[in-house]
Amino acid sequence: MQEQQRVYFLWLMSNCIKFKVEKIKSVKAREILDSRGNPTVEVEITLDSGIKAKSDVPSGASTGTYEALELRDNDKKRYKGKGVLNAVANVNNVIAPKIVGMEIGENLDELEKFDEMMLNLDGTENKTNLGANAILGVSIAIARASAMSLNLPLYKYFNKNAKILPVPMMNILNGGAHANWQSTDFQEFMLVPYGAKNFAECLRYGAEIYHELKILLKSKNFSTSVGDEGGFVVNVKSNEEPIKLIINAIENAGYEYYKDVGISLDVAASGFYKDGNYELKTENLNFSSDEMIEKYKDLVEKYKILSIEDGLAEDDWEGWKKMNKEIGEKTILIGDDLFVTNIKRLERGIKEKSANAVLIKLNQIGTVSETIKAINLTHKTNWKTVISHRSGETTDTFIADFCVGMNSKLIKTGAPCRSERVEKYNQLMRIEEELGNKGKFAGKEAFK
Ligand code: PGA
Ligand code: ZN
Repeated sequence: MQEQQRVYFLWLMSNCIKFKVEKIKSVKAREILDSRGNPTVEVEITLDSGIKAKSDVPSGASTGTYEALELRDNDKKRYKGKGVLNAVANVNNVIAPKIVGMEIGENLDELEKFDEMMLNLDGTENKTNLGANAILGVSIAIARASAMSLNLPLYKYFNKNAKILPVPMMNILNGGAHANWQSTDFQEFMLVPYGAKNFAECLRYGAEIYHELKILLKSKNFSTSVGDEGGFVVNVKSNEEPIKLIINAIENAGYEYYKDVGISLDVAASGFYKDGNYELKTENLNFSSDEMIEKYKDLVEKYKILSIEDGLAEDDWEGWKKMNKEIGEKTILIGDDLFVTNIKRLERGIKEKSANAVLIKLNQIGTVSETIKAINLTHKTNWKTVISHRSGETTDTFIADFCVGMNSKLIKTGAPCRSERVEKYNQLMRIEEELGNKGKFAGKEAFK
């Protein structure tokens, strides 16, 4: 009898410990550097059990006009005005006092409560008071702390049944703002090794082709230095030439173009949209919306381009509608600057049939919960989502877990080069290993 009581007591104790809801003990933000050497926000949350969760906020270069505000100090004496001490202070002095002592959430509804509290504290549409960089840092750290306190891998915190490994879109030739406008007008030429049998193999295809491309560029006397996202920066004469170089590299690596590996583009057209026209400096052309659409039609026809992101500018709603009508059946049209992960802009796009896919960037909107809402609406519309890094990154791998957790079949996080890019891919390999037989690589399904 005594032994039975002892066993019951131990069972009770272990369950009390298991079900004890943890509280936030401290929240600390600091200024760190991102991959471009610019300051960004890091947030560290400690729970009363001693669990520590950290998050580092990324930052864009070809930022959309309608993104939530990234708060910079504008003190020209520090980091050319790019310091984030005000955002850091907003976390430490405004957000922290409100959430220290609160119980950490166990599910996404509870995360949403924290996010709503921060939105109320900020009180503006665009997060102009506290800064999206301050708010997002806390939001991600809370999600991570919750997963840790539940003893769950981060991707399972978002969905216990998550099992899809995304296809990576690897940006191996950098242009536009990411190459300081010293290369093509088009910003990103991406490898999509969707014919591989699993994620790890997919990454191998990508890395092998990347190295073949380097050899090819060297043989043609091109520079092999890299841009912000780890892709090469090449001084070519047209926006089409990189496509030919990549196809060449794919074949040199022993793969079949389109069957094993396809190509996706991020044109980032807002970056060269001037007075209602598209200024293609590399080709000395000034195109209207219609002429741009014709150009894409031609490229899709010729090279079977898998997807085109931001083919037109963020305010060219009429052009987008037309583009989707003309080539939306043949290729995937992804809105990045157009939608900025914002439900309101997305709702307009759905109504006007502007595109058929959405690029998802957490810091465009500034909280994890709002990002989840944008993803859910996109999937409900039967459009595709692509979870994305920013050109200014850190080694934080949150988006890898987030992508798997949200059932997104596509991720773009740069070239298979530079730790801040590769770490996300490496994390996806770890997740694939952990899922074992239960995992499913999205492969060509991702584009259907
Ligand atoms: P950004 O670029 O992070 O510089 O905005 C990424 C993209 O345009 O997709
Ligand atoms: Zn983009």
